[in-house]
Amino acid sequence: MRQIIIGNWKMNGSNALVAEIAPAVLAEAAQLAADLVLCPPATLIAPLAVALAGQVKVGGQDCHAQEAGAHTGDIAAGMLREAGASYVILGHSERRADHGETDAEVRAKIEAARAAGLTPIVCVGEDEAARAEGAAETVVLGQLARSLPEDFVAPPGGLVAYEPVWAIGSGRTPTAGDIAAMHGAIRAALRARFGAGGARVAILYGGSVKPANAARVLALPEVGGALVGGASLIAGDFLAIARAATLGSAAGTG
Ligand code: PGA
Repeated sequence: MRQIIIGNWKMNGSNALVAEIAPAVLAEAAQLAADLVLCPPATLIAPLAVALAGQVKVGGQDCHAQEAGAHTGDIAAGMLREAGASYVILGHSERRADHGETDAEVRAKIEAARAAGLTPIVCVGEDEAARAEGAAETVVLGQLARSLPEDFVAPPGGLVAYEPVWAIGSGRTPTAGDIAAMHGAIRAALRARFGAGGARVAILYGGSVKPANAARVLALPEVGGALVGGASLIAGDFLAIARAATLGSAAGTG
């Protein structure tokens, strides 16, 4: 399976960044063995989608659970779709922390995204205290069980991103063994719940993925790609990570 490298710009970026990154990504995308997706802030989805001309997909970073209505400041999944998105990140730990998003809300958003034809990228991950207590797997599998809807593997499908909260933006990453163990546990849970469809869901790793560690992370079993924050704002770094995915796939470990 081709690996997928997703850039999460968070609340960063500008028209100038779109003008800088889009041509750099387009110049390489066709030669890469990995698929790329860029998730800019909502205001940049349309210009980025235009600049990438369908060659590289674009995603949102959140959507509301309702199709429309009196929800000032929120954005519906159908609006992201109309702006040019085909993916949406949901349940990111920064949304859970900043906006108190619960697993039930994440599930409702996943359902809304799927209904609009968007592929959700569902983020799960333990905080540092849970990791220290040995409860990381319980936390992550619990988040997954509560947030994934029954039809998650039916078209347009969905991705899971394992992002330990303590690894995001910190420069720290779990050991290779810890990443492999968590991805294996997630795969087992997806298979148990969704059968053959659960075996095909891509499980991405996220949290301080950089050019220096990308090849090591992407070569691990059950790592189907990466969700990249900070390094996705620098074209050279994002593409270096994507090239590491190419090597991982070529080695048959993707
Ligand atoms: P980071 O962010 O790569 O800057 O750690 C990852 C994420 O939050 O998706």
